[in-house]
Amino acid sequence: MKSFYITTAIDYANGSPHLGHAYEKVLTDVVARFRRAKGDSVYFLTGLDEHGQKVQQSAEKQGVSPQEFCDSVAEEFQALCRNLNISNDDYIRTTEARHKQVVRDFQQSLFDKGEIYKGPYNGFYSARQEQFLQERDRNEDGSWPEIFGEVSEISEENYYFKLSQYQDWLIGYLQENEDFIFPRFRQKQVLEFLKEPLNDLCISRPKSRLAWGISLPFDEDYVTYVWFDALINYLTASGFMEGDTSRWPADYHVIGKDIMVPAHSIYWPIMLKACDIPLPKHLLVHGFWTSSGAKMSKSTGNTVNPLDLADKFGVDSFRYFVTREMNVGQDSDFSEEQFLRRYTSELANDLGNLVSRLQNMVTRYTDGVIPAASIEDDEEKDLKTLWAETSGKVVHLAEGFQFHQALEETFQFIRSINRYVEQRAPWKLAKSEEAGDRALLETSLAVIAEGLRLASIVLGPVMPSTSDKIQRLLGSEPVQTFSDNLVWDFRLEGKSVGEKTILFPRPEK
Ligand code: ME8
Ligand code: MG
Repeated sequence: MKSFYITTAIDYANGSPHLGHAYEKVLTDVVARFRRAKGDSVYFLTGLDEHGQKVQQSAEKQGVSPQEFCDSVAEEFQALCRNLNISNDDYIRTTEARHKQVVRDFQQSLFDKGEIYKGPYNGFYSARQEQFLQERDRNEDGSWPEIFGEVSEISEENYYFKLSQYQDWLIGYLQENEDFIFPRFRQKQVLEFLKEPLNDLCISRPKSRLAWGISLPFDEDYVTYVWFDALINYLTASGFMEGDTSRWPADYHVIGKDIMVPAHSIYWPIMLKACDIPLPKHLLVHGFWTSSGAKMSKSTGNTVNPLDLADKFGVDSFRYFVTREMNVGQDSDFSEEQFLRRYTSELANDLGNLVSRLQNMVTRYTDGVIPAASIEDDEEKDLKTLWAETSGKVVHLAEGFQFHQALEETFQFIRSINRYVEQRAPWKLAKSEEAGDRALLETSLAVIAEGLRLASIVLGPVMPSTSDKIQRLLGSEPVQTFSDNLVWDFRLEGKSVGEKTILFPRPEK
């Protein structure tokens, strides 16, 4: 059976991880864990993009070799994955032998098919963007935009990939496959871009100018243009080029909006088509995090360190916040105040307090053992019905990548459990001498426990350790799979609750 194969972009090794990187990994991890929960076999890839001019320059600045530089950056990014509890199955680095081999085989195959030719280039080049510039890239006053950094005029021979001859094919493909890109409005942007004629793609850099790259198999005087190397990582890790068809084609490439056009929506499909390799099924394109309205990037420096926040508030709180806050596809603004607001009202109050209240009550009123439910009045029936609706919605929303809404639904349900606690007021029932109140007390504790068990399971993909913790505190072995585990059936009866725990402590000042 083919795996559900999902990838992130591979991060540039020329700087440290920031919120954008952390977000993309969390988003992809949520999709991966959700698919596993639904029973799919998942293969999740992330990694590091290590070649190119910028990496070479960063290494020079530090006075180390590019490989040494990349090794230390790789450690940082891998630590990010561990700290964020990312469940990737593989981590690819583009300097690995397995990758160089696939890139070279891929290029040789294109070369043999006549898809690559050598030609002259005279014109302008931006080292910062590693890009050849055209007249249309200039500002109106004739100068070059800031983002290109220093622009120099060069004249050299290079290798070109025949991109332009696939333009009509790609337009047709996108028109026939309307769901190639999620969200759909992004696909329209690609078609818009394709209204202008494509140029062939320069895929080489002379070694005299840039040494840090993968040598072209058919001309060792050149290295590969970094995008023509980086995109192939997805294929490398799938094992497809060695005959393993259990993963490729990828189901989703998760990427940010800045690398959709032209890299992922134009170069990549055409490269694969020209090589007779199946295309990935979809791109999942997320928006950008800004920090108080400003774009966040390595070059502007206004970055929030995700690991600081995860340290301070717990990894799951960070995962919750970014998933709850971002409508996948749109941009979102990051502010610590908003983070704190959600942490306090949703995580600490709505969820955390409910768990400790239940633990307290079960400890005091039923000797620490979750009792049986014997009564079903409207209050109990309503909550059970709400759960049936909620679980259906959550699964449906998650399938459509509407994770922010799935969390909203889940927390609506959690708030309904809180209202139920207030309605039933078990602490009053515990003091009452009236007939039937003991049964109602036990029922109410069983209902609260059941609601929490179910909510914690659907929170699992977003907050895996919190989900496990809550299930353990309710006396059960944690489960990650949905299916029959999402059925309201009071299976916790007779289980002993764990030690009292504060799941989301007040942050220290
Ligand atoms: O583009 N908000 O690497 P990268 C959200 N190596 N996402 C953001 C972001 C932000 N503020 N800033 C960056 C590269 N990203 C290439 C990819 S793939 C074959 C090669 C996202 O380190 C960005 O959109 O600049 C991209 O998907 C990922 O982080 C890595 O960006
Ligand atoms: Mg970038």
